[in-house]
Amino acid sequence: MEVQHIKMETTSTIESPVLDIIESRRSLRAYSGMPVEEEKIKSLFEAARWAPSSMNEQPWTYIYATKEQPELWAKIFNTLSEGNRIWAVDAPLLIASFVRTKHIRNGVPNNAARYDLGGANAFLSLQATKLGLNVHQMGGFDKVKLVEDLNVPLDEYEPVVVMAIGYPGDADKLPENLKQRETSPRVRYTQESFVRNKSF
Ligand SMILES: Cc1cc2nc3c(=O)[nH]c(=O)nc-3n(C[C@H](O)[C@H](O)[C@H](O)COP(=O)(O)O)c2cc1C
Repeated sequence: MEVQHIKMETTSTIESPVLDIIESRRSLRAYSGMPVEEEKIKSLFEAARWAPSSMNEQPWTYIYATKEQPELWAKIFNTLSEGNRIWAVDAPLLIASFVRTKHIRNGVPNNAARYDLGGANAFLSLQATKLGLNVHQMGGFDKVKLVEDLNVPLDEYEPVVVMAIGYPGDADKLPENLKQRETSPRVRYTQESFVRNKSF
């Protein structure tokens, strides 16, 4: 049997033209203190709303909190890993994203739910970029604590990712190691590494 190896090479260049918001989006860590306007928060969720989903189930659910709601904001913030708390402490908006794990129509487990939430969060992130906002998704949080502190009914919902959102701020205020990551070019595998126009 012939095994075909793919060379996994990376670059920081854009290989083919893409939308400006795809090119400029990045997961920054420095936030300015400026609050996110209510109508912009609504636009973010509107973008998520129009994402495609398996059988149009729309299995995404969000709990958001702004710094003007310190109690709810802290409930989400306190679930974050230490490494994420260092910088997310300045994010004026936190969003916890969940999936409804079963289909509404028949209660059968929805195997596409997490895939669909990822799509919705991608739509939300690109809308945020267009609005001048930064979204930083985080898998580094304590799911058990989030479920407890936000009274999540586990028979219906599962937390997947928390997002820190706000206007970009001054990278110089970050610890040195994060400052470097903030300003270094983004890196991706080349198309050649993951796109095939022939069978394996
Ligand atoms: C599901 C998911 C979980 C992530 N978890 C974390 C996290 O806990 N902490 C963090 O700093 N970044 C996290 N990230 C951000 C990634 O590290 C980031 O998207 C990746 O390095 C690519 O950089 P870019 O988004 O700036 O292009 C996460 C991203 C995704 C999609």
